[in-house]
Amino acid sequence: MNDNYITLNAISKHYSAKNGTVEALKNVSLSLPQNEIFGVIGLSGAGKSTLVRCINLLERPDTGEIIINRENLLNLGSEELRLRRQKIGMIFQHFNLLEQQTVLNNVCFPLEIRGIPRKERREKAMGLLEKVGLAEKAEAYPSQLSGGQKQRVAIARVLANEPDILLCDEATSALDPETTKTILGLIKTIHDTMGITVVIITHEMKVIQEICSSVAVLENGEVQEIGTVSELFVNPKSRAAKRLLLLEEEEDETYVG
Ligand SMILES: Nc1ncnc2c1ncn2[C@@H]1O[C@H](COP(=O)(O)OP(=O)(O)O)[C@@H](O)[C@H]1O
Ligand SMILES: [Mg+2]
Repeated sequence: MNDNYITLNAISKHYSAKNGTVEALKNVSLSLPQNEIFGVIGLSGAGKSTLVRCINLLERPDTGEIIINRENLLNLGSEELRLRRQKIGMIFQHFNLLEQQTVLNNVCFPLEIRGIPRKERREKAMGLLEKVGLAEKAEAYPSQLSGGQKQRVAIARVLANEPDILLCDEATSALDPETTKTILGLIKTIHDTMGITVVIITHEMKVIQEICSSVAVLENGEVQEIGTVSELFVNPKSRAAKRLLLLEEEEDETYVG
């Protein structure tokens, strides 16, 4: 067993835009133990999506290292990287389903890419739909599903490749509070039963509180603080963390009012 399963070492990433350069990540270092649910929280524009996309090299950092299970991803050739990426699942705020395909075909899709025969992939996909509680929707189309159901399909699809890492980029941000809870519950069950290392990217403290064990606070492309979730809630040190906690309280108050 490796203590630090995912290590980001001094990652920097900039974007060149028309009106100048954006330093999206500045010298970010993080170590995530295996089999943990790790949170990254920050406001919009903090660099969260860039960070999570660096973990599977959808974005290549300008400098730094990405080490997963002792392997530096930046040293992999394109075919090795493609295979490694199959084991890093990702789910998104807007689900990214194939709208013209049935639920079952959406889940079959990664299996088809891997050349799994039709009968086998349909059986496997049905099993995954059962796991996420959506077997009865196998022949439905995404447009006929609620947001929570769509995210369940996306989760089943991601599990088809038997990932060892699951990256969740604002996966519950388009969902209402109740549905958010059930989807986070599903992610937790998957984590607990399948031993997957989970990275949760969010702007909501309540998501961190619900599911994560440790958390990094990101602001302006920099890590402001890292610690356990209870430390963050009891004794936030950075200005960014205090601000995020305050925002959450205000939101709660508007809920009551
Ligand atoms: N493809 C891009 N081109 C130019 N700027 C980008 C691009 N992607 C992100 N950015 C900028 O980088 C910063 C961080 O963005 P992002 O990682 O998406 O933050 P977050 O997910 O926390 O909202 C923002 O200022 C954003 O505008
Ligand atoms: Mg984002």
